[in-house]
Amino acid sequence: MSEDLGRARETLASSLDRPSTGRVYDFYLGGDHNYAIDRDFGQRMVDLMPEARIFARENRGFVRRAVRYARTEHGITQFVDIGSGLPTQGNVHEIADESGRDARVVYVDNDPVARAHAQILLSDTADPQRHFAIDADFLDGAELWERVIELGGLDPDQPICLLVSALLHFIVPEQRPEEMLALYRDLLPPGSLLVLSHCTDEDTTPALQEVAARYMVTTSNAHLRGRSEVRAFFGDFELVEPGVVWTPQWRPELAAAHEPPFDGDPASTLAIAGVGRKR
Ligand SMILES: C[S@@+](CC[C@H](N)C(=O)[O-])C[C@H]1O[C@@H](n2cnc3c(N)ncnc32)[C@H](O)[C@@H]1O
Repeated sequence: MSEDLGRARETLASSLDRPSTGRVYDFYLGGDHNYAIDRDFGQRMVDLMPEARIFARENRGFVRRAVRYARTEHGITQFVDIGSGLPTQGNVHEIADESGRDARVVYVDNDPVARAHAQILLSDTADPQRHFAIDADFLDGAELWERVIELGGLDPDQPICLLVSALLHFIVPEQRPEEMLALYRDLLPPGSLLVLSHCTDEDTTPALQEVAARYMVTTSNAHLRGRSEVRAFFGDFELVEPGVVWTPQWRPELAAAHEPPFDGDPASTLAIAGVGRKR
């Protein structure tokens, strides 16, 4: 075992004092990269709001379709996934590799637990020349971007697909996410895509407010936003069709044959999503 992997395992062993949002999300998805503390919290949230599992499943579906879209319709081969959570089946590097093994992917998460899991999982499933994981914060801005470009060997002049999926509801207003996102939009070269999803309190179950409040005991606080606030995160990027919609409504035709179509109430997915393009 390398020194890095040894450190990753130590991080995991010493991370059990509170639920990790990334691992709780993995629990919602039915994954097995979570511990009792995550499962206890996650189960309480599911009891309060059964839609939590629908949210996670449909949000991942959106991410997969958006990555396919970036690859197949725009030929993008560079991906930066901030707030990536735990790389698991159907993650960005696997979807990007569906259409050729030349995509570079940098996963970024500020939770050392998520990063440690990512490192272990990537060491098993990914190509270490093209797929990377770093422990960094969305709020690090230009410093983070520099690390991402350097570590991932990305060409900053070629289009990049930046994913901030199910991340910004963990950035509270005092942290001014709109300013940080504006900086990333500026740093992206023309032709780049911004892939974004966000839990909303507009037209969703009131239980979501209660769940968001309870996240204060986890590794991230939560803050819900309405449609217009979420749309504003795209700034002057051109929203590609169909705009900002419930996660399963975003280009369902891009789902793989084994991905079941969603036929429930779109609002039960709790999150809205869209893809913006820099001209
Ligand atoms: C719900 S998971 C989303 C995973 C994945 N992006 C998806 O959509 O399936 C949110 C992740 O964001 C991470 N996160 C929260 N605040 C962050 C920040 N300020 N910087 C980087 N990552 C953050 C959490 O640690 C967690 O792993």
